[in-house]
Amino acid sequence: MALSFYVHIPYCVKRCGYCDFNTYTPSELRSGDLSADISGVSEGYIDRVLKEIDQARSEVSAAIVPTIFFGGGTPTLLEAHDLSRVISKIKSEFEVSKDCEITIEANPDTVTEDLLTKLREGGFNRISFGMQSAVPHVLATLDRTHKPEGVGRSVALANSIGFEHISVDLIYGTPGESIADWEISVNSALSMAIDHISAYALIVEAGTKLSNQVKRGELVMPADDETAEKYRIADDLFASAGFSWYELSNWAKPGGECRHNINYWNGSNWWGVGPGAHSFLGNERWWNVKHPSAYQERIDSGLSPKLAGETLTLENHKDEKIMLQIRLVDGIDRKTLTSEQNSNAARYLESDHISHSHWSQGRVVLTQSGRLIADRIVRELMV
Ligand SMILES: C[S@@+](CC[C@H](N)C(=O)[O-])C[C@H]1O[C@@H](n2cnc3c(N)ncnc32)[C@H](O)[C@@H]1O
Ligand code: SF4
Repeated sequence: MALSFYVHIPYCVKRCGYCDFNTYTPSELRSGDLSADISGVSEGYIDRVLKEIDQARSEVSAAIVPTIFFGGGTPTLLEAHDLSRVISKIKSEFEVSKDCEITIEANPDTVTEDLLTKLREGGFNRISFGMQSAVPHVLATLDRTHKPEGVGRSVALANSIGFEHISVDLIYGTPGESIADWEISVNSALSMAIDHISAYALIVEAGTKLSNQVKRGELVMPADDETAEKYRIADDLFASAGFSWYELSNWAKPGGECRHNINYWNGSNWWGVGPGAHSFLGNERWWNVKHPSAYQERIDSGLSPKLAGETLTLENHKDEKIMLQIRLVDGIDRKTLTSEQNSNAARYLESDHISHSHWSQGRVVLTQSGRLIADRIVRELMV
């Protein structure tokens, strides 16, 4: 059995205005049980992560690990030797495939040559930087701590140190971002030695600083048409630079696709370690307690950190498959769809939202315009 690992690192120096991820800053932690100083939590947090891996080992007797992904939060805030201890632990408890993809997410201003060298030596072979934009006023609206120059410097360092795969995340549709600003960000990313790009439309999450600024009228979100235009611009520029789309928000050079995320979208097994992390094994899905101090308490008492879970029925499985696979460049096998679903999809052929050539080869694959209305098409297929 294949089992991927996701390792959640729930710490950030400062919360970006748009972000509602399960992450905690020193001031948010001050009310909890953990030390307010993030640099002091590295060893203790990782000790508990290792204990959850022991729990995984006792539940899953044997597995081959094809990918490991450290996400956050800001994983690069922790000590390199602590992060590497997690890799060693997974290697000691499971069979890790020879070409295992081991990714770390990084905030561009938290990496130094020393840290990257140690991470590479510890086994990380892929790094993903949260670039978001190359335009200072956009980064300021996003409330980011890094400067545009920091990204190119960090990517060049990662490249010289020998990371096999390097990715950057971009965000489009920030209030005040012009089309020209977005083109600058896309071209800046393309000027770097990377083989993967994720580009996400900015989502206004309830309860964030951004959402309050939008509510008070201090920031105005752009019209949907403009955001769609930015997707088209990016997709065209990425394609002409040799980056093909392989998932709605992800583009890669050949061989640069993130195998961890592909496994996730294909419904493979994965174990999410850490507070709030989700896991999926066979027909079972569960998620851990959310706060780091609750996680610490559970692990220290020898208990599982699982908060709740659900068993997927055959129907749930089919719906999930449609939702995930429609996002992928290989799309959905038409034979797995009912005749009603096939005829609903056929309507989008006429409007060129679904590719004619793939349809005649038996697959439902979105065109560029189809990708822009993927949510609507999914709803029509969930009958
Ligand atoms: C965990 S972060 C990446 C690593 C690191 N924490 C950083 O931000 O540099 C994952 C990515 O999710 C994206 N993201 C987070 N919140 C978002 C939102 N509200 N709308 C769109 N993208 C978002 C950002 O592009 C971010 O880089
Ligand atoms: S650094 Fe990343 S995880 Fe942390 S608040 Fe910002 S976007 Fe969220």
